[in-house]
Order: sequence, then structure tokens, then C-alpha cells
Amino acid sequence: MCGIVGYTGHREAYPIVIKGLKRLEYRGYDSTGVALLNGGLKVYKKKGRVADLEEFLVGKDLHSHIGIGHTRWATHGEPSDRNAHPHTSNSGKLTMIHNGIIENYAQIKKELLTKGYTFTSDTDTEVLLNFIEDIKENNECNLEEAVRVALKRITGAYCILLLDEADPETIIAARKGSPLVIGVGKGEHFLGSDASPMLEYTKEVVYINDYELAIVRPDELILKNLGNEKITPFVTKLDLKLAAIEKGGYEHFMLKEIFEQPSTILDCLRGRLDASAGMITMSGVQQNIEAFKTAGRIIIVACGTSWHAGLLAEYIIEELCRIPVEVEYASEFRYRNPVINKGDIIIAISQSGETADTLVAINRAKEQGAIIFGIVNVVGSSIARLSNGGAYTHAGPEIGVASTKAFTGQLAVLTMMALKIAKEKGTIADERYTQLLFELESVPEKVEALLKNADAIEAIAEKYKDASDALFLGRGYNFPIALEGALKLKEISYIHAEGYPAAEMKHGPIALVTATLPVVFIATNDTYHEKIISNIQEIKARKGKVIAIITEGDDVIPGLADDVFYVPAADEIIAPILSCVPLQLLSYYMGIARGVDVDKPRNLAKSVTVE
Ligand code: M6R
Repeated sequence: MCGIVGYTGHREAYPIVIKGLKRLEYRGYDSTGVALLNGGLKVYKKKGRVADLEEFLVGKDLHSHIGIGHTRWATHGEPSDRNAHPHTSNSGKLTMIHNGIIENYAQIKKELLTKGYTFTSDTDTEVLLNFIEDIKENNECNLEEAVRVALKRITGAYCILLLDEADPETIIAARKGSPLVIGVGKGEHFLGSDASPMLEYTKEVVYINDYELAIVRPDELILKNLGNEKITPFVTKLDLKLAAIEKGGYEHFMLKEIFEQPSTILDCLRGRLDASAGMITMSGVQQNIEAFKTAGRIIIVACGTSWHAGLLAEYIIEELCRIPVEVEYASEFRYRNPVINKGDIIIAISQSGETADTLVAINRAKEQGAIIFGIVNVVGSSIARLSNGGAYTHAGPEIGVASTKAFTGQLAVLTMMALKIAKEKGTIADERYTQLLFELESVPEKVEALLKNADAIEAIAEKYKDASDALFLGRGYNFPIALEGALKLKEISYIHAEGYPAAEMKHGPIALVTATLPVVFIATNDTYHEKIISNIQEIKARKGKVIAIITEGDDVIPGLADDVFYVPAADEIIAPILSCVPLQLLSYYMGIARGVDVDKPRNLAKSVTVE
């Protein structure tokens, strides 16, 4: 949450910073600000989007070769001009941006108030900045030293960038828990919460680790730990193209990402799955294969959509590999005292690889000796680096706040993993294994085929756009998809939605059924097909409106449901990768019909780096 950009070098800083902020806006969009340094600090900030700030700055003197910028997702203090970053210290000589939460800020603020400091915002950031200034002045040390001392005293998470009026070429940066990437150019350096702001300038980047502090000048990048020892920066080559972070002709990133799925799923399978040869090649799984084969238990930790992928994985892994699986919300797991036994494997699932709760959860488990296997989309992210082994989803940058292509990538990786482990463990019959490999291989073209009928979903969305509530029901492998469909609809259209196992609806939610309640059934052909037909009839008997996602050729449900959408036939283990796609489209079109900014729905941010 919150996007951070910085630049120091020979170019004009403002255009780089403002463009970078637009690319990072998915991380938060409550308010925006930039600080430049040219004969004194200049700080401009405003409530609202990056475009609002940009418009406000037209005609202003923005000349500077150094700058920092911030796009905020509010934690401490409402979204407003005064709570927007950058914040300026009491002396007016320092300015800082911050992504994260300083947990002991109240106590530090108290100390600073007794020393006469004043505050113009409600933020924890302004407290940390003045704390740094206080240390600098009282200890008569330089800014770098003051930052180090301050960071040792605070608890919480941070990525901070600071400018000092007295040092017009240097940005001081540090991180713990919130991401920071530094791009290395010729006579220039770029800083960002991810690499997107620097893509057209350099492919050489350094991922900063927790408890590291960077002194960044045009010709110099010095990395130190909080003990003031130098660390050699590890430069990595970026494998990311500009086109991947642009809309490519689509009106929204979310729609682009939904339609990219045939190719992102293919990218995920490519080089790993060879159905004709009966092979799955996953080096991360192979390296840990003995641990998987002998695992007493797998614990999956994740949040949101990634948690739904984990829930489906529980069904698949238990069925194919006969390993008990537990699926935990990372935010709960990290604060419980979970029993982790020798031989347990933790699978962490995360698109961003930066979700704070998931990160802390796996840290805890690692301390207790668990093996951590990461299923992550963002290459080089914190969870990827913390894991003992893993598999990337290769979905490419996901910018729309609603997770779509990352989810289908997670499902594809988890299914491949389960098949590989089952084969190695001998818990799957050869014939079934081969059949599922071919089924998985055909998913990209099946997704492509169903996307050709997106108009049908658009028409359904138009019909139900005024609903105030919705129910999503599924059984077996389609139950996690019901949960995911409900989450998508909530976040993108602001319609209250609940996901339930279809049979569970009789135990309460059926009381909600009226003639105006849309009930979405994920009712593809599977073991439970007849049972779910009964559930549909129970809803129709109470005059509820039924929208059903069904398999091509189904000739029963169309006679019962008010609206149907067909997906190509697939094995029940594979079908969820198909049936989630119309639900993504449904939420998108409902959101559009209701006038929601679907790429940036209210109160949300793409990467939840605070707990
Ligand atoms: O980056 P992660 O996969 O760890 O993120 C987890 C959730 O924050 C994320 O899936 C969230 O629920 C999305 N907004 C869902 O569309």
C-alpha cells in the first residue's frame, strides 16, 4: 500500500516522478505528493489522484534534478491535503515519504511534543520524520546516522525516502516490510515500490532487503545495514517490458488482464507441462520432492483471492496426493500459536509477494523450522526471496486492483504441483494422470473460447446491475470459486455478495432469497451436478433469480435458470480455472454499469503491505 518513487541524476526529476506515480497508483490513490529540490525544498501535495496533482502543478516551476513522490493509501489520518505525503520536518529542512505503519508513533509523538515539536498532520510519518530531525540536531550527526538511530527505536513497517535541503544530490532510503527497488543508470538512480517507474531507463535493479539503508546519489549507491556495515548491492537484470504495464487498447487494466488469461495461463504452463511426454517439470517442487512425498501436512497461508486459490488447492492436493491440507488466513495464522510439526510444509500464495500478513506468517513458520514454498507472481518480491523453494505464476504485472489473471495462474501452478507430487508419490493412476495433463494443457484455448462470449455476460450484468445483494453458490471444487465470485463482485461493483457451499445455504442464507435476489450458481458438470440442480430448484421455488455457469451441452439447467453462461467441458478438477472467468467478467461489467472506477475501487489498494 502506498507507492513510492524517487530520482536523482542528470534528467529533470518531476516528469520521471509523476509518471512513476501513475504506474504505482494501483498501490493507493487517496492523495498524492512530490518534493523537489532546487534552491530549497518544494513540496506539492493534494488529496485525490495523481492526475489531480498534475493538473494543479501546471505552470509551476518544477525544475529539479532530484525528487521524491508518493501516492497514498491512508492508514493514520483521513485522506486530505494535510495528511498527504511528503511531510516536512519542523525546521523545514527535511522532507520524507513513507509506506508502512510506525506502531509506536504515539509514544514518540508524546516525547516530541514535550520538546516543543508541532505537527500539521495526523500521520505516523510526520512523527518519524521529526524524530529523525530531533536525533540529527541533538546528536549533531548527519542524516544517515540519524535515520539509523531512529529506525532502531521504532517498531512497525516502513519504506522511507528522505531529502535534506543541505544535500541536494542525495536521497536516503530504508526499508523494513515494505518493498523498495533501486534502478541503476549511468549517472542516475531511480527508486520505486516496484520497478515500473524505471522501466524505460534501466534494466539493472537492486532489490533492497529489510533493515537495509541506501545512500543514493547520481553516481553512487551505498548500501548499509542498520549496524553501519557496508553491503555490496546485488544487481539483477529486469525481465519486464513496458507493454506489460500499459493498457494496450483496453479501457481498463482489469479487462485487459481478464482477456490476457489464455496467454498468461499458457506462459505459466510453458516449459513445465508436456502432456504428450507425460512430464511436469517444476524445479522448485523437484528440489523439495522428498519433503513433499513425506509431508505429514501442508499448511497453506494466504489472503483474499490467493486464499481462495489455496482453498481449491486443499481439495485438489487431498484428492490427488493424499496429504492433509489446512488453509489459513495469514492474518490469523500469524497471531495464533499454530502447531507446526517436523515435516510440515507451508505453501504461501501471493500475487504481489509483499502482503504483510503472509510475509510475517511465513517468517514465524520458518523460525519454527517449517519448509516454505512460495507461489508468487512478482519476481524478486519479499515472499519469493524468503521461501525455501517455489514456483512463479508468470502472469506478468497485474495492475487492476481485482486479482484475475494471477488467480488463474495460481490455480494452474497448484494443479501442476499436485499432479507432480501425486505422480512421484504414486497416489494417482497413470491413466488419470495423463488425462489431467491433457486437460490442463487445453485450458488456454478453452478460456479463449469462452471469452469470445463475453457479450453474454455483459448482458447479464446489465440485467442485474441494480441488485443490492447477491449470493454465489458452488459445491466441491466450485465452492472456492463461489467465494471468489462473491469477493470480485463486492470489490468491483460494491454490491454486497456472499459465497457459500450450495448445500449450506439451507442453514441460513436461504432466508435472504426474494424475487429480486440474484443467486449465481457455479454448476458445471461434476460429481455434484444432480445435487446442485436440487439447490437451484430450491431457490426457484422461492422465486429467487438464478444465474448459472454451466457446461456446454447441459440441457437441464437452462430449463430452470433465469440466465446461463456456458463454459467448455472439462474435468471437475480443471473446470474451476474456466468457471472463474465469467465471474470476473460479471463483476467487471456490473462495476462498469454502476459507474465504479474498476481499476481503483474505493478504499482498496493492490498490495496490502500493512497488517
Ligand atoms: O498480493 P496477494 O495475492 O498476497 O494479495 C492478497 C489479497 O490482498 C488480494 O487477493 C485481494 O483480495 C484482491 N483485491 C482480490 O481481488
